[in-house]
Amino acid sequence: MKTTLIKEAQRVLNVNYKEKGYSIPCKGLYPFQWLWDSGFIAIGFAHYDMPKAKNELTTLLSAQWANGFIPHIVFHEVSETYFPGPNYHRADLHPLSNKEYPSTGMTQPPVIGFVLEKIYQIAENKADVLNFIKENIGKIYNNHLYFYTNRDPKNEGLVYIYHNWESGTDNSPMWDGIWATMNSPEYSFERRDTAIVDVSQRPSKREYDHYLHIVEIAKKHNYNDQKIAELSPFLIQDPLFNSMLIKSNSSLIELYKIIGDNDDKIAQLQKWQEKSITSFNHKLFDPELGAYIHYDLRNEKPIRMVSSSSFAPLYAGIPSKEQAKELVNTMLTKFGGKGMYLCASFDPTSEHYNPKKYWRGPVWINLNWLLYYGLLDYEYNNIAQKIKSDSIEIIEKVGFYEYFDPRKSEYNNKTKGYGGSNFSWSAALLIDLINN
Ligand code: DGY
Repeated sequence: MKTTLIKEAQRVLNVNYKEKGYSIPCKGLYPFQWLWDSGFIAIGFAHYDMPKAKNELTTLLSAQWANGFIPHIVFHEVSETYFPGPNYHRADLHPLSNKEYPSTGMTQPPVIGFVLEKIYQIAENKADVLNFIKENIGKIYNNHLYFYTNRDPKNEGLVYIYHNWESGTDNSPMWDGIWATMNSPEYSFERRDTAIVDVSQRPSKREYDHYLHIVEIAKKHNYNDQKIAELSPFLIQDPLFNSMLIKSNSSLIELYKIIGDNDDKIAQLQKWQEKSITSFNHKLFDPELGAYIHYDLRNEKPIRMVSSSSFAPLYAGIPSKEQAKELVNTMLTKFGGKGMYLCASFDPTSEHYNPKKYWRGPVWINLNWLLYYGLLDYEYNNIAQKIKSDSIEIIEKVGFYEYFDPRKSEYNNKTKGYGGSNFSWSAALLIDLINN
């Protein structure tokens, strides 16, 4: 059974891999290269086709900007099936943008540092992959330097995101309160996603107005970081995003130690780590909720809601043992009810929860993957195994979709997953889960 599933996962990855050396998340809905997708996809390829894993990352890193920034979408092809494309985003307005690769002017969770460590762990030919890492690790270090230099205006060790698309959790109810503060114009534009996926599973038109409005502000200021920090109505310290950065810092430290001769870089990374982890626990842990929360830097207030992002710090070793215990307790009481697959992307006990709508409730395999490894690190083996077996079970039942209903009662032999089908990271991370 597992062998068939792995074969099927490989088929999905192979179909989505393009000749130019990158993978699309899925056909139609996402026809370009996405940053964190590529990271997770590389982990899947590393298990059976290391050259493709390396190409995936090389191609992504070719689109890096001169200031270390890595964009969230690289538009390798012209496509009629996606809005908004390169002519809308106009990343070229930024003086240091990459002139060869059209992209967006926003980024996504910085996963590539830990992806490098992960593919090294998976590799049979360690020397070969270490050479690849030697060639590329400096680019990731520069990317982290970009974050700490440009995205941390208060020097707290916590970086901000200026757009919900940077979070990866695009339409989370977390952002609803921010949309209410924004007086976004009603834009007229043609959605392409809702021609492919049922509208009930995608963000609303009004939400897209807000998404575009933030891009308009950034474009007006040529994607200048200082101006964005000053003016963006969306300015968030996100626990998922910062956990990915912190985990990637740790991976860079480990890799530099293996490579040798990089004491200055290691020292700088350790300095960032110390500050980031201290601030993270001080500012983003909410003892009453027993979870990490988002902080709204623009309106200077915590967003006191729980989502799967609230548990991501487990993957980065951020919580103390006691905090980890509280997180697990919150996960089990709010998300782990009878008849529920772990882990819904938003608090199922909240009135804002919607089990079908993108990041407002469905299960996502990438978050499950992070939680699985995080829980193992803290020795919560049973829950880790449950997350792993839930992930495998839903994929076995419906296939490699983008996201899945957390309610077991919804599954019968006609059930489908939600969003895109033949979705690359669901396939890639399943391969890793099964092989672990
Ligand atoms: C989309 O278009 O929904 C993407 O998630 C943006 O990154």
